[in-house]
Amino acid sequence: MKITFQGHSCFTIEEGGHTIIIDPFLTGNPQAVSKPEDIKVEAVLVTHGHADHLGDAIEIAKANNAPIIAPFELVNYCTERGTEGHPMHIGGGYDFPFGRIKLTIAFHGSTTGTGAGGDPSQTVGNPCGFVVTMNGKSVYHAGDTGLFSDMALIGPVDCALLPIGDNFTMGIDDAVKAVALIKPKTVIPMHYNTFDLIKQDPEEFKDKLSDFDVAVEIIKPGQSIEI
Ligand code: NI
Ligand code: MN
Repeated sequence: MKITFQGHSCFTIEEGGHTIIIDPFLTGNPQAVSKPEDIKVEAVLVTHGHADHLGDAIEIAKANNAPIIAPFELVNYCTERGTEGHPMHIGGGYDFPFGRIKLTIAFHGSTTGTGAGGDPSQTVGNPCGFVVTMNGKSVYHAGDTGLFSDMALIGPVDCALLPIGDNFTMGIDDAVKAVALIKPKTVIPMHYNTFDLIKQDPEEFKDKLSDFDVAVEIIKPGQSIEI
């Protein structure tokens, strides 16, 4: 399985000839190296409606004839704007042709329209995280969330994608606690250094995990790892 960091909380995941994208915030993302038109995927997963996650999802979904996979209310928002969609909700899983997606809780908000040129802000249900399983390899994308003890029920997974930016989500110390609960083989920090409010040193996160049985992969936008 190839996991490519696209900056902020956006990742593409490739396995067995299938590619999906999560939280495709590329336009206006100072970290992004890919453009929406470069993205070729068969599904677009979105954790919540905030502009730094919904991002280019509608454009990419339309260009690829790919469904938006997200909580029900957010899928409705997207299909009303012309995309295909597969509504899901927290705790539910579904076997897609490319793999299994299960939605987890995330403690955060979910409104739209905060981006430039967006519609008036509206609430689009609850935010979520995703567990993506393709060919037996599992990845947990936490979305935007604070630490919660039920993370212990999500793992073990092969790879966890965890926010460390603080302010809007977990910071480094809570993300270390999250690793202890989830027990991933590999962890990739996300949602940091995109903006001044979420400035963090990922090397501090790595140092604080030095006694843990986990590989900490700090990857730059455009870089990939194989798990
Ligand atoms: Ni958010
Ligand atoms: Mn965010």
